[in-house]
Amino acid sequence: MEYGSVIKLSTGVKAYILRPTLIDYMFKGFKRVTQVIYPKDLGFITLLADIRPGSRVLEGGVGTGFLTAVIARYVGDEGHVYAYEIDKRRIDVALENLRLVGLENRVTFRNKDVRVDVDDYDIDSAILDIPDPWNALKTLARALKPSATVISFLPSINQVEKLVNYVLDSGLFVDLRTYEILLREYEVSKDVIRPKTMMVGHTGYIVFMRMLKQ
Ligand SMILES: C[S@@+](CC[C@H](N)C(=O)[O-])C[C@H]1O[C@@H](n2cnc3c(N)ncnc32)[C@H](O)[C@@H]1O
Repeated sequence: MEYGSVIKLSTGVKAYILRPTLIDYMFKGFKRVTQVIYPKDLGFITLLADIRPGSRVLEGGVGTGFLTAVIARYVGDEGHVYAYEIDKRRIDVALENLRLVGLENRVTFRNKDVRVDVDDYDIDSAILDIPDPWNALKTLARALKPSATVISFLPSINQVEKLVNYVLDSGLFVDLRTYEILLREYEVSKDVIRPKTMMVGHTGYIVFMRMLKQ
């Protein structure tokens, strides 16, 4: 059936045929093997990192590949994602997930520790979702273009404090900022429009910085 069609199921329930969005694939099609970054954070991270067609992006900590899929979509065919992950089994899952959305050719997976073993260069943006990003910054600095955007996603404020102290002491980065995104969805029906009772209370903090010329 064509997208946009309406059918009545044998149970009497109406169903709609809609083209799946990237979020639909991620939540309903991707095999999930780790904690993931949620759409509310993914959207802001992508814009803040200034990911665009042609960007060369380095990702540290692929996990399930939610973030990988989003940045692979926005770098276009001219750009590329270099995705580092220490656990080979997770790379296999993420590759399958990326194949499901046809984005696997825009990603090179590297089964390496992003804190010590980075092969890539001329990187426009680095995005880290690992527990100890402060240990990766010196290695990353060699891969980044001057003025590159760097983002770290961290679940606890203790990690943010440690990263911020490291960054301020290092002298390698400027424009240091930290954000937390809260998203409240509304219930919408003809007579009642109000915030949903339940919301996601906490996901993580987003730490942003820019690389100085070395
Ligand atoms: C929370 S998951 C990432 C989830 C991912 N951002 C997503 O949205 O699906 C963190 C991943 O980082 C990987 N990891 C942790 N330390 C790493 C390191 N030093 N180098 C590369 N990968 C690392 C872990 O194996 C794990 O798969």
